[in-house]
Amino acid sequence: MSLYAIGDLHLHYQTELKAPGQLRNRVWRKHEEKFRKNCGKLLKDEDTLVLVGDHSWGRNLDECQMDLQYICDLPGRKILIRGNHDMFWDAKKTRQLNELYKPRIHFLQDSYETYRDYALVGTKGFTFEGPYYIDRRNRIVGWDEEAEAHARKLVARELQRLRNSFELARADGYDKFIMFLHYPPTNIMERYSAFTQMAEEYGADQVIYAHSHGEARFHDSIHGLYHGVNYQLVSGDYLRWMPRKILD
Ligand SMILES: [Fe+2]
Ligand SMILES: [Fe+2]
Repeated sequence: MSLYAIGDLHLHYQTELKAPGQLRNRVWRKHEEKFRKNCGKLLKDEDTLVLVGDHSWGRNLDECQMDLQYICDLPGRKILIRGNHDMFWDAKKTRQLNELYKPRIHFLQDSYETYRDYALVGTKGFTFEGPYYIDRRNRIVGWDEEAEAHARKLVARELQRLRNSFELARADGYDKFIMFLHYPPTNIMERYSAFTQMAEEYGADQVIYAHSHGEARFHDSIHGLYHGVNYQLVSGDYLRWMPRKILD
C-alpha cells in the first residue's frame, strides 16, 4: 500500500485547448495517455493517489464529465485538491461534489483524509505572481499594489481553510500530517511564507505542491528539506506523468 501524488493533469476531453505556451511543449503531447499507462503499471487498488489541482479545463461540471470519469477510472483511491483552473469546483459546494462522486473521488477541502496514521490536509493556496515592474537590469523595482492587496486577501482565506483542516484532524487525535497545496508554498525565490510557517507550526512531514510548469518555473519555490519539512513539486510535466511516491 502506497501514497502517491501528482498535479496538473489539465484534462480537456470536452473542451477546446486554449493553453498557454508552457502547456504546449512536447511533454504535453498525449499526456493523458502516458499518465493512464503509468498509473496502470504503478498503482494498485489499495493505493491512494492525490491529484494536486488543475484537473480540467472545463468551465463547469457539465464540461468536466469526461475528465472526471477519466480520473474515476484510474486505479486506487483518488483524492483531489482544488487548482486555480478548476472552475467546476466551488469550494463552498465541496459537499455536493463529494455526494455526487462518492465513493469514486474524494474532493478535499476544509476537511482531511487519512492514510495509515497520517492526516492528509490541503487547499489551493496562493502565491503572488505579479505583475512585477523591472528595471533595465532586470531588477524588481515594484509591483501592482492592487493585485498584491487582493493576493493578501486570498492568502488569508486559504490559510484559514488550511488551519480548519489541521484543527479538525488534530481534534480527532492525528499528529502526523502531509500538507497539499496547489500553488507553490512561497512566492518566486522566497524561502518563507505563511504557508511554510503553518507547515512548521503543525509539524507537517511533507508539503506537496504543483502549479509550476516548464523548465523555467520548476525551481520557483522550495525543493527538499527546509526547517524539518520536506517540500516536493509534483506538477505533471515536472514528473513527466509518473506519480511520485509520498509514503509507503
Ligand atoms: Fe497547472
Ligand atoms: Fe495552477
